[in-house]
Amino acid sequence: MYNSRIIGLGYYLPDNIVTNNDLSKIMDTTDEWIQERTGVKERRWIDPKTDDTTSTMAVKASKIAINRSGLKKEDIDFIIFATLSPDMYFPGGGVRVQDMLDMPTIGALDVRNQCSGFIYAMSVADQFIKTGMYKNILVIGSENHSGGLEKSTRGRGLTVIFGDGAGAAIVSRSEDKGKGILSSHLHSEGKYARELMLDAPNTGRWVPEILAENDSEDQSYYPYMNGQFVFKNAVIRFSEVIIEGLEANNLNKEDIDMLIPHQANLRIAQFIQRKFKLPDDKVYNNIMKYGNTTAASVIIALTEAWEQGKIKDNDLVVLAAFGSGFTWGSVIIRW
Ligand code: UT7
Repeated sequence: MYNSRIIGLGYYLPDNIVTNNDLSKIMDTTDEWIQERTGVKERRWIDPKTDDTTSTMAVKASKIAINRSGLKKEDIDFIIFATLSPDMYFPGGGVRVQDMLDMPTIGALDVRNQCSGFIYAMSVADQFIKTGMYKNILVIGSENHSGGLEKSTRGRGLTVIFGDGAGAAIVSRSEDKGKGILSSHLHSEGKYARELMLDAPNTGRWVPEILAENDSEDQSYYPYMNGQFVFKNAVIRFSEVIIEGLEANNLNKEDIDMLIPHQANLRIAQFIQRKFKLPDDKVYNNIMKYGNTTAASVIIALTEAWEQGKIKDNDLVVLAAFGSGFTWGSVIIRW
């Protein structure tokens, strides 16, 4: 068995900053409400006049990650792309990146696990590397939420939370024992699929039917979230899956050097921080600047923390996420 290590990181965010005050001009909300309930101060939303899409942002983040890895794009032998907002209904984003980066005809896999997407993608990459099937995998999380949000008072519960952005990691084979991805832990509970979802269009109710219904009350093609229920489950599952990861490696919470939680809500991250008694410098949050970027949030936060020198050689880094599905998971890394 080989080991897998992250050897390159990159992220890209659209230039367009949307503040809470900007939102209060288009819906009944306030900066105070948003900051108090979520911690978000501003987010990036793609300016439709630019060429940014889920895939083009992914390409920009990937170029940085490949460059930093010291590899050439020809050295990458597989792509894993996590997103809930692909450019097209099908095909997914992986093949778009393969094309836009002008890569050889390598395989491209799409992961549909929403907020846990990057965790699932890292786990898949780790297995392919450990078994020797691939040497260098490009793992991406990218989202364009802004195009699909209901930007009015009716949609305010969700719209104020979400932001756009992309991140990428190069996961590579390593002979360095004891370093790299130590383990990953994945879970799901599909009975709660409808508590956080985008229902339509779906194969039981296609676009022609939605158009024929012509129902101005219909919100089924906007995301829906049972916020308080999701919140309660999130704090429990985050804690469980972090403990599971630590125990699998005979580690304690005191061993954590850096926790990167999915940026769902600052209040959730703060709850976890208190529960694990972690000082501020051992938890990285950036939801204040970017909102919740779903599959991109963990990789953007990981990259920022690394860029700021907050992750050093031999550090124990814990990635954890929870979200729609429900799905949740953790990845334990010895840097
Ligand atoms: O990333 C995937 C995982 N996602 C999460 O983990 C998110 C978990 N949930 C949450 O973060 C929180 O539930 C939210 C931030 C989404 C909502 O906060 P909340 O404290 O649960 O608020 P609420 O939905 O219970 O709404 C409270 C009140 C309601 O008014 P009434 O019924 O009490 O009069 C809402 O209509 O706040 C109202 N409200 C707003 N007011 C101003 C909802 N959204 C807004 C808004 N601005 N944007």
